[in-house]
Amino acid sequence: AAIEKSGYEHFMLKEIFEQPQTIFDSFRGRLDVEQAMLTLSGLDAIKDKLLAARRIIIVACGTSWHAGLLAEYLIEELCRVNVEVEYASEFRYRNPIIDENDVIIAVSQSGETADTLVALENAKKQGATIFGIVNVVGSSIARMADAGAYTHAGPEIGVASTKAFTAQLVVLELFALKLAQMKGTASPERLRQLIAALHAVPEQVQWILDNQLDNIKRIATKYKDARDFLFLGRGYNFPIALEGALKLKEISYIHAEGYPAAEMKHGPIALVDEHLPVVFVATQDPFYEKVVSNMQEIKARKGRLIAVVSEGDEMAEQLAEDVITVPKSDELISPLLAVVPLQLLSYYVGIELQVDVDKPRNLAKSVTVE
Ligand code: G6P
Repeated sequence: AAIEKSGYEHFMLKEIFEQPQTIFDSFRGRLDVEQAMLTLSGLDAIKDKLLAARRIIIVACGTSWHAGLLAEYLIEELCRVNVEVEYASEFRYRNPIIDENDVIIAVSQSGETADTLVALENAKKQGATIFGIVNVVGSSIARMADAGAYTHAGPEIGVASTKAFTAQLVVLELFALKLAQMKGTASPERLRQLIAALHAVPEQVQWILDNQLDNIKRIATKYKDARDFLFLGRGYNFPIALEGALKLKEISYIHAEGYPAAEMKHGPIALVDEHLPVVFVATQDPFYEKVVSNMQEIKARKGRLIAVVSEGDEMAEQLAEDVITVPKSDELISPLLAVVPLQLLSYYVGIELQVDVDKPRNLAKSVTVE
């Protein structure tokens, strides 16, 4: 059947709005809040390999790589196992050291990205076990993996990935939680909290869509003529800053850089002047105070501060020129919320600048040649 925009002006907007449903679909049947139970059958299939693995390597490209970076933080925190995140195009050519003790997680929306596929084939030949986190059922990566878990986001048509990204994050969260449960590296109480927080996400994303849209549109109009944008975040919000910058570049053609908030002192801060919008991903977490001081550094140099914060954050209201609010969540889960306003911001900037947001120039939905 034809895939339609069902009343939305663009596939990208439709896909952003589908996220309360697609996020639910990615954990449906895999999460039992009452029993604090997790089911990920693909993971059971490689249980022995995983429990024995001294490290996990995540291989991906583009937006999927950002999901992988967040998973590095999550898995190391919850499962106490070493995680490396690799760009498939680099991993494939740099003669990496791999053996049968390695478990590789491949993250790919299409399951057809050439660099990712070949990187995995090479690793498999060297004995590694491949776990695929893929959206397209029956795709090449899904078929070559030893085990895996589909993301269940449904077909994604917009070239810039949105709902596939949040679905990848959900599955990677489930992976981390389940592995932590198997290894006993997180307390039952902590797991229970995280399961509940994950379960609340669809409703919380809906809240953002219902309550922040006009605010985000206004911010998009205000900053649409900027030449550059900076996106900053620390900890779990750093991968989200990278993803925010990538989205904006892809569909507005405005140059944008994502950076770890503290690392900006070592370069990007030189760009800050009264014209530069700086988006802080600053939801509540243990780094929050540090992020605030990074905001002050930008403000002292007259940068235009835009802050994505948790509900009830008065500090940000005082500091930032514009504030976007997301519901409160656990720090391990809130990246799933923080990315949604950034998707919308780039969408509306792209619309203001009359970019073909569903099919931006020079980009392909799936890069099947290297
Ligand atoms: C292309 C797409 C991106 C995607 C990347 C990786 O660049 O435009 O949206 O993140 O490929 O694709 P994959 O299908 O492997 O996730």
